[in-house]
Amino acid sequence: MAPIVSIRSLQDHVGEEITLQGWLYNKTGKGKLQFLQVRDGTGICQAVVFRDNVSPEAFEAGKALTQESSLIVRGVVRAEPRAPGVPGGYEVDARDVQAVSIAEPYPITPKEHGVEFLMANRHLWLRSQRQWAAMRVRATIIRGIREWLDGHGFLNVDTPIITPAAAEGTTTLFAIDYHGEKAFLAQTGQLYNEANIFAFGKVYCFGPTFRAEKSKTRRHLQEFWMVEPEIAFCDLEQLMEVEEQFVSHIVQKCLAECEPELKVLERDLTHLAKVTPPFPRIHYDDAVEMINDAAARGELVPGYPDPVPAIEWGDDFGSPHETYLAAQFEKPVFVHHYPTQVKAFYMEPEAGRPEVCRSVDLLAPEGYGEIIGGSERMSDAGKLVAAIEHHGLPRETYEWYLDLRRYGSVVHSGFGLGVERTVAWVCGLDHVRETIAFPRTLTSMRP
Ligand code: 4AD
Ligand code: MG
Repeated sequence: MAPIVSIRSLQDHVGEEITLQGWLYNKTGKGKLQFLQVRDGTGICQAVVFRDNVSPEAFEAGKALTQESSLIVRGVVRAEPRAPGVPGGYEVDARDVQAVSIAEPYPITPKEHGVEFLMANRHLWLRSQRQWAAMRVRATIIRGIREWLDGHGFLNVDTPIITPAAAEGTTTLFAIDYHGEKAFLAQTGQLYNEANIFAFGKVYCFGPTFRAEKSKTRRHLQEFWMVEPEIAFCDLEQLMEVEEQFVSHIVQKCLAECEPELKVLERDLTHLAKVTPPFPRIHYDDAVEMINDAAARGELVPGYPDPVPAIEWGDDFGSPHETYLAAQFEKPVFVHHYPTQVKAFYMEPEAGRPEVCRSVDLLAPEGYGEIIGGSERMSDAGKLVAAIEHHGLPRETYEWYLDLRRYGSVVHSGFGLGVERTVAWVCGLDHVRETIAFPRTLTSMRP
């Protein structure tokens, strides 16, 4: 039997007889010719079945194939610049066609379907080209994340999913029963990461995180994946340098390795190509001024029907604010020194100006909003006790976290990058529900 090869590697087999295993994506043709669009998970390619080149059984097998039937095609690889497919440019001149399993009438057809129907059929929808492309980009982003961190001295130390306390506010906790005791699904691994840096210097955790977000927006999931690097002896300014290197690596890797996928997604690559260090940095104070100036001029938010809403100093940004700010720059932009009152309890206040903290968010261009949240951490035990009390958090649960400030405390910083928002941005998708195989949203956890 001819060797089984993947569609992605057809270019290495021109002129050879090979075997493809996959599913029928579409088919056309008449008379003596059938054009089978075959997908195998790595791409899509056309198999040309000419009656004189195959047995009568094989020709009939091809004719009987329905959309999504599984099949095996043996044939010779031909370079054909006009051949459709992903990546395209190669086709298989069939010598044999075998049906493995004939699919029943498939619910997802090339016609338009509503998103609700598609989400209910997510287990099937994943086979569609755009969904397939987005998942491949996601996997590349994840490889890029690990590659950069592993290559820059970060140790992967994973943190628990079941936790006894809040870290990112008490309003978005998913409570579970831990043998009669109340526990929560992790919102972040950060507090444990902070313990880990004292053992390992630079670490990252990477896993699913959970937020019972009551908001039904295109940027929020209930379960999402976050990579969180944490660094000892690192201040806010050094943190931003790490972030811009890291994000640039991820984006450039996708451009280098996911050209066919980004083409399927019809992504405009000009913005992405510009993502290289350094990224612009703006202080929250200046961001507020920019927003309020735009509001006074009645400027519109790109992509929104409404003008930029004014903002009160001290308030957190809404999506229109983030979108407007990001649109003023060609690259992702850092906004630093947010008001202490809108950020988590553990962030270091600015010396001499405690109403702002040493925090930084990274806003992606083109309206994709905050993709990274991070900060310098409070490194003084006394200040941290006051912050825990100010936030009404149970002190006992954080005793171990206070220990980190008692035994060799150092200036340290870290951040969390949300994988789904990064995928949405890189792929140009307008909703995070298409950035993960089986999304958990406010209204749905099925299939
Ligand atoms: O800004 P956040 O809440 O930061 C933290 O959790 C810190 N403890 C991270 C750290 O410093 N180690 O979340 C970080 C990122 C956001 O910028 C966003 O990309 C993503 O996580 N994120 C969400 N993504 C999808 N759905 C949600 N509900 C998200 N909430 C946060
Ligand atoms: Mg945040």
